[in-house]
Amino acid sequence: MIDIHNHILPAVDDGAKSPEMALAMLQEAVNQGVEHLVLTPHLYEADIIKSTKDWKNNIEEASETVLSLVKEHELPIEISIAAEVRYQDMLPIILEELDVLIGDKYLLLEFSFISVPNNLERIIYDITQKGIIPIIAHPERIKPWQQDPTQIAELINMGCPTQLDIGSFMGTLGPSSEKLANFLFDRDAVHIVGSDSHNTESRTLYTKPGYNWLTDRYGKEYADLLLKINPAKILSGEHVEVYPVDLRPVNSSWKNKIMNIFKT
Ligand SMILES: [Fe+2]
Repeated sequence: MIDIHNHILPAVDDGAKSPEMALAMLQEAVNQGVEHLVLTPHLYEADIIKSTKDWKNNIEEASETVLSLVKEHELPIEISIAAEVRYQDMLPIILEELDVLIGDKYLLLEFSFISVPNNLERIIYDITQKGIIPIIAHPERIKPWQQDPTQIAELINMGCPTQLDIGSFMGTLGPSSEKLANFLFDRDAVHIVGSDSHNTESRTLYTKPGYNWLTDRYGKEYADLLLKINPAKILSGEHVEVYPVDLRPVNSSWKNKIMNIFKT
C-alpha cells in the first residue's frame, strides 16, 4: 500500500515530535504493509511569511533524518517528500519556489476546517491552468461541506480527486466526519484514502484496518483502487480517473414525494 498523507517528518509541524517518534511511525507503517510513504508536512502561511528558505531548510534536514532512520534500521519502505499545503494567498510563491508536488503534478491541498474561500472554483481553475491537479485533502472534515457537500461535487467535476482520512470513516475523527465520509463513499466521490497520521497515540496510522474496512464494505478491488492503484498513479504523475458526481441530497421519503406531487 501507499500512504500519500501523513505527518511523520519529525519536528516540522504538529506531527512526529522527535526522530524517535518518527521511527516508531515508520515501523508501524512497515508492520501494516505500507511500501511507500509520501511525507506531507503542513505548510501554512505563517511558515513562509518571511521567506520560503527556512521552511525548505527545515524540511531538508528532517528528510535527511528520516532517510537515515530508514537506512539504519533497514526498513523495507520507500520515502517521498511533498507537503500538505493549506490554501493561502502565498500559493503562487509556494508553487514557484518549493517542491511540494507529488509526482511533479499533484498538489495535496487543504482548506480551513471552518471556512472555505468564496471564489473556490476560480482558485482551482487557476491551479489547473499551471498543469497542476489539486487533491482535495479530507473534504469530509470541512464544516461548511459537512452542512452542504454540493461544493465538493463542483471541485470533483473540475477533475480534482478527493483524499479521505482513514480515521474519518473508521469513526475516530468524530460523527460529522464519519457521516460525510460515508455519504461520499455512497456517491462514488472518493479517489484516495490516506492515514493523515500525526503520532503514535491519538492520530496513529490506520492503513491496514482502513484497507480491511474498505474490503469488507466495498470489496478488495475498491480497497486496492484507493490505497494502491490511485496512489501509485499519483506518485508517477499519471492520470487518475475522476468521474462526474452529483452530491445534491436525494429526498426519497414517501411523505415528501407525495407532498411534491401536490405541489406540482
Ligand atoms: Fe494532514
